[in-house]
Amino acid sequence: MKLTEYIGSQFGNPQGFIGKICCVIMNAINHKMYTKVSDIVLKNFCIDILDVGFGNGYLEEKLSKIPSVMIKGIDISEDMIISATKRNKKAVEQGRVVLSLGDCCSLDFPTGMFDAVTSVNTIYFWSDTVKGLTEINRVLKDKGIFVSAVYSQEWLKKLSYTKKGFKFFSKEDYILDGKKAGFSEVIIEEIVNGKSYIIKYMK
Ligand SMILES: C[S@@+](CC[C@H](N)C(=O)[O-])C[C@H]1O[C@@H](n2cnc3c(N)ncnc32)[C@H](O)[C@@H]1O
Repeated sequence: MKLTEYIGSQFGNPQGFIGKICCVIMNAINHKMYTKVSDIVLKNFCIDILDVGFGNGYLEEKLSKIPSVMIKGIDISEDMIISATKRNKKAVEQGRVVLSLGDCCSLDFPTGMFDAVTSVNTIYFWSDTVKGLTEINRVLKDKGIFVSAVYSQEWLKKLSYTKKGFKFFSKEDYILDGKKAGFSEVIIEEIVNGKSYIIKYMK
């Protein structure tokens, strides 16, 4: 495997020391995404939240500062459960953050459980996008919202490590897949012009 492919695979399923380094890099470059997601959760008075693909738990740390918020997180990487649990030790002990192994294409949660589902830079890695979105729609309460922060395909295609393991989506793809998954409306807002956006999928 080429070095660039190896680094790309670490973003999709971080493992070991290199996985940890990749997560720290993400934390540094994605701070606008975390802030935007957290602002939407705050503005919508969300209480029960599911975060898909939490990585090293940076968003959990930010969200758990909002009083009354209860966060569940799932990730396909066992190593990330260890990292994110360490980072959120106090909130995990208090039961405000609950982290477990899981794949968003088959969620182990009851229907209508969450006010919001959040996800930062994970949709490119899901095995089946519409299945993942359909599952997320299922676990949302009526009027719930899925907030997904993503880089544009134009930006991702410029990066050497995205050649393998990443799926690329246009804005139209995001809207079409959201509709196929049963969301009533999909709203896309720019974070950094042409580079990154927030996608709000309304149940
Ligand atoms: C690029 S990292 C982003 C981590 C974190 N959201 C952040 O921004 O700091 C992608 C994360 O999504 C996880 N992931 C990939 N596919 C997933 C899936 N189908 N369900 C749940 N987690 C997934 C990976 O293991 C990894 O931790």
